[in-house]
Amino acid sequence: MMQYSEDLAFFLKLTDLIRVGGITSEQHKRIADLILEEQPDVVVETGVCVGSSTVVILEALKQLGKGLLYSIDDMSLVKKFTGCYITEDLLERWIFIQDKSKNYLNYLDNNFVVDIFLHDSDHSHENMTWEYLWALNHIRSNGWIVSHDTHTNNAWEEFSEKNKNMIVESFQLSSLAGIRIRR
Ligand SMILES: C[S@@+](CC[C@H](N)C(=O)[O-])C[C@H]1O[C@@H](n2cnc3c(N)ncnc32)[C@H](O)[C@@H]1O
Repeated sequence: MMQYSEDLAFFLKLTDLIRVGGITSEQHKRIADLILEEQPDVVVETGVCVGSSTVVILEALKQLGKGLLYSIDDMSLVKKFTGCYITEDLLERWIFIQDKSKNYLNYLDNNFVVDIFLHDSDHSHENMTWEYLWALNHIRSNGWIVSHDTHTNNAWEEFSEKNKNMIVESFQLSSLAGIRIRR
């Protein structure tokens, strides 16, 4: 079993009580474990809402003492409350971008490399497919592409099937799924 810092353990307990963004406590634990196991340098997430997944990732990076999280949210859902769970001690590893995910990801350099990518923004088939493909083009070998709300439509299924020869490990925890990509 994974050892969590006091703050991370506390927040994981809290997510049972303050679930707003839709990710369950069990799914948050899976995200925390992935960060702690993989020790990423660069994590990208799309979709912050009040910041549950963001806090979990940032607390795990803080525990590791390394890594940066890029979070992209257009602030359409909870407006000024976007990211309101994020405490000051977590800010040093956080880069927040207020934009449509597609706009910002398109703007990034072709050589930008991601260790872990988490989709949780606009769950339309078009946007999910676009983000997964962006992630595939930017993920380092052995990195993870993770998505919440994979049940919304068949974008995840199609993407996984199409790229199955590159998938070396996977998990599905209800509506949260992840694949490890090897080139
Ligand atoms: C399901 S919530 C994210 C939940 C969050 N991951 C959590 O753990 O609490 C989806 C978020 O995506 C944002 N959003 C919706 N469409 C977007 C888009 N095209 N680009 C960026 N963010 C978007 C919304 O503003 C909302 O905050």
